[in-house]
Amino acid sequence: MVIKKICCIGAGYVGGPTCSVIALKCPDIEVTVVDKSSERIQQWNSNKLPIYEPGLYEVVLKCRDKNLFFSTNINKAITEADLIFISVNTPTKLNGNGKGRAADLKYVEGAARMIADIAQSNKIVVEKSTVPVKAAESILRILRANHKKGVKFQILSNPEFLSEGTAIDNLINADRVLIGGEESEGGQQAIKELSWVYEHWIPAEKIITTNTWSSELSKLAANAFLASRISNINSLSAVCEATGADISEVANAVGKDSRIGSKFLQASIGFGGSCFQKDILNLVYICECLNLPEVASYWQQVIDLNEYQKTRFTKKIVELLFNTVSDKKLAILGFAFKKDTGDTRESPAIYVAKTLLDEGAKLHIYDPKVEATQILDDLTHPSFTPDPEGVRKAIEIYDDPYQATAGTHAVVICTEWDEFIGLDYEEIYSNMMKPAFIFDGRKILNHDKLANIGFFVHTVGKQT
Ligand code: NAD
Ligand code: UGA
Repeated sequence: MVIKKICCIGAGYVGGPTCSVIALKCPDIEVTVVDKSSERIQQWNSNKLPIYEPGLYEVVLKCRDKNLFFSTNINKAITEADLIFISVNTPTKLNGNGKGRAADLKYVEGAARMIADIAQSNKIVVEKSTVPVKAAESILRILRANHKKGVKFQILSNPEFLSEGTAIDNLINADRVLIGGEESEGGQQAIKELSWVYEHWIPAEKIITTNTWSSELSKLAANAFLASRISNINSLSAVCEATGADISEVANAVGKDSRIGSKFLQASIGFGGSCFQKDILNLVYICECLNLPEVASYWQQVIDLNEYQKTRFTKKIVELLFNTVSDKKLAILGFAFKKDTGDTRESPAIYVAKTLLDEGAKLHIYDPKVEATQILDDLTHPSFTPDPEGVRKAIEIYDDPYQATAGTHAVVICTEWDEFIGLDYEEIYSNMMKPAFIFDGRKILNHDKLANIGFFVHTVGKQT
């Protein structure tokens, strides 16, 4: 079979960009991205896409309504597709067995049941969502127990490694593409067909093929390795603050070892994002279920250290502001979990805001890309506060950093937006309460320059 039509279930941060790039690079393939949320689909079809990702809009404009379609007609897209990506969310379970750790596969199962119900011809079903090892087995059982007569399914694992903020570049210049499948003849054929899609732009030697379970585990392993580097450096940032060593100098010295490498050694207020914590918790849960408690507790430490880092930073803010922030105005610059995205899922800024609000502070919040409604939703959500009205009264959301910082006692940098590096800090200083504090949670500013202006500066990984 030559793949002529692709359907992707889930028009989120992965489904949208991934399929836009496939459409761009494979003009001979028609790609339809479907979602049960009509609002999301309507946004994908508008001039304001539901997610902010550098370069994405340009790619969508080139392909949309040519060989790239966004639709709520799931039935039609599944019926016509040769290959179907499942790109739905796999959040941490909130209830029941494995609550707070295991991945909730209800959306993946829902998608699989929909495919089984609708498909009238053979399909290659590709698990793109991040799932526990052996999830493909469950999907296959659901598909094979519910299929229409004569319809055959092959299931592949093809995890996604893109990072938000650099998704388009990551997809176009992928380090590798990983495809796992059955060792049977049918499985190997399906791998070849998906490889052919990627070979439109990815060099064949960068396409790795494995068995299904290795592919599923490699995705969890990659995220666990990446997150553990951040916890490694963040743990040492605490040692630096206590001794006078400087974490930037340590990271530079350590990273120069070619076996270690310099990437992902930026000390911070802790990692955020929708996946690192969820995927490591999932790995921990799998290890516990496999009766591997030592391995489980090893990876659990990566999460625990991240919690510690977030707490440490916020405690320091309160401590340095004379042990009280009650009724003080503080500016939070950056609310997204990293720069170049409007995504706030598990953003450390939310944790910082919570602690400061609990201490009675008034927050002025500015982020270049996060919508005000999103900030308000995050900070008034029942999981965040029992008193949404109180929070509403304690926060103001700004669309200008100078207005956000005016009249405040302190500026807290929570996201490493480039824009914050170029701000006029003399002007900011002149409009702040004195003594004026800057807490640089991302280590992006020139601290000597700020000190010369008159700021009292605290940053992660350096003695204050
Ligand atoms: P997301 O929440 O942005 O998008 C998921 C979409 O799936 C939602 O729009 C939802 O409405 C839709 N959906 C759920 N069930 C559906 C159904 N039955 N039919 C139609 N639509 C349905 O999630 P995301 O960030 O794109 O992540 C998707 C998966 O990819 C997750 O498993 C995640 O771990 C993994 N992943 C995410 C990233 C990332 O950067 N966000 C990177 C790599 C892997
Ligand atoms: C991460 C991985 O990098 C992707 O490969 C993976 O596909 C994705 O998770 C996923 O599975 O969802 P993402 O979360 O989008 O991508 O962004 P990262 O660049 O990894 O940053 C994650 C968090 O770590 C951010 O809060 C970032 O600020 C923080 N970080 C990153 C640091 O604190 N220090 C660093 O050195 C690097």
